[in-house]
Amino acid sequence: MADLADLADVGRDRRRGGYSRHGFDRAELELRAWFAEQARGRGLDVRPDRNGNLWAWWGEPGPGAVVTGSHLDSVPGGGAFDGPLGVVSALQAVDLLRARGFRPAKPLAVVVFVEEEGGRFGVACLGSRLMTGAIAADAACALTDADGVTFGEAAHAAGFDPLRMGRDDRALASIGAFVELHVEQGRGLEEPVGLASSILAHGRWRFTFTGEGNHAGATLVEDRRDPMLPAAATVLAARRAATGGARATVGRVVPNPGGTNVIASSVDVWLDARADDEPRTREVVAAITAAAEGAARDEGCEVVVREESWGGTVTFDAGLMAEVRAALGADTPALPTGAGHDAGILAAHAPTAMLFVRNPTGVSHAPGEHAEPDDCAAGVVALASTLEHLAR
Ligand code: GLV
Ligand code: MN
Ligand code: MN
Ligand code: MN
Repeated sequence: MADLADLADVGRDRRRGGYSRHGFDRAELELRAWFAEQARGRGLDVRPDRNGNLWAWWGEPGPGAVVTGSHLDSVPGGGAFDGPLGVVSALQAVDLLRARGFRPAKPLAVVVFVEEEGGRFGVACLGSRLMTGAIAADAACALTDADGVTFGEAAHAAGFDPLRMGRDDRALASIGAFVELHVEQGRGLEEPVGLASSILAHGRWRFTFTGEGNHAGATLVEDRRDPMLPAAATVLAARRAATGGARATVGRVVPNPGGTNVIASSVDVWLDARADDEPRTREVVAAITAAAEGAARDEGCEVVVREESWGGTVTFDAGLMAEVRAALGADTPALPTGAGHDAGILAAHAPTAMLFVRNPTGVSHAPGEHAEPDDCAAGVVALASTLEHLAR
């Protein structure tokens, strides 16, 4: 909790509440510097990889390492725990293992992934996607933030070479097992600590509606081609389509130019859709797309739909879950989650597991996100015991 308190003033968002910390922005860079200093202070060897992620090694870097970590960025107006809890707990777990006199037989590393939330450049898990080749380097580097700065430019300013980015087989080969600790993001966990069993299939789509910009007072309603109307219809269609456990969310609507007395010339509607599997998710998005196209036609507008990112259902490694249970107890609960994580991206490349710390309110991606200090402490103990079991 003292470590989290250390970070409490970094990236506070006074307008939205909570925190806004995004890949390579000032707040995230300050948190990364904090992490590097903390890791070096523990005698860990801090090495950035080619893709903007930070690694801190206990022992000689090499294949078969036991790796833990998470991210330091947030959603816009996010909570204090989503991301930083996993990083801080990893450092505390190292301290606890040392206090126990543990000497790892395998290399152990703590990793911080860049732009996990996609809050700045639009694609979530950008650092782990780059490392695994799930996104091509040129596509990642061309992504822009709200000010038109590209990811490549931001990475370059932070000391990374965009030309060297891309799938990193050496980093992937170094991961013998990956365990990410994270605050649980729903109300599904009744014990202080549990395991993740699976992640819903999910993706992001951008609907760009184009109409005719004009004057709010001088343009008769019957003369308008207002892209905000099909945008609104799309929001409603998303709610209608998300049945049977599927989720569809429009959390971001960007009108251009965005003036109160201006009929927008275009509107970007960002859709986040998730469901048990790929076919069901695609079905939900197809229904929303059909509604968006119909509403655009009715208003004399155009619509272009782009898939911005995608990830299929993740089932975490049964063997590694059994190892974690061997360390923590056979009765350690496991639960599915609707939230995406770097662990979900890595799961296609290495045995991967997640430890969840109970969320008493079920609030996440919002300033009210919370975890009790005792549960966080239980998370550190569970992570330390897991790492000890895996690295012995
Ligand atoms: C990231 O936290 C996500 O699930 O969108
Ligand atoms: Mn998140
Ligand atoms: Mn997270
Ligand atoms: Mn996430």
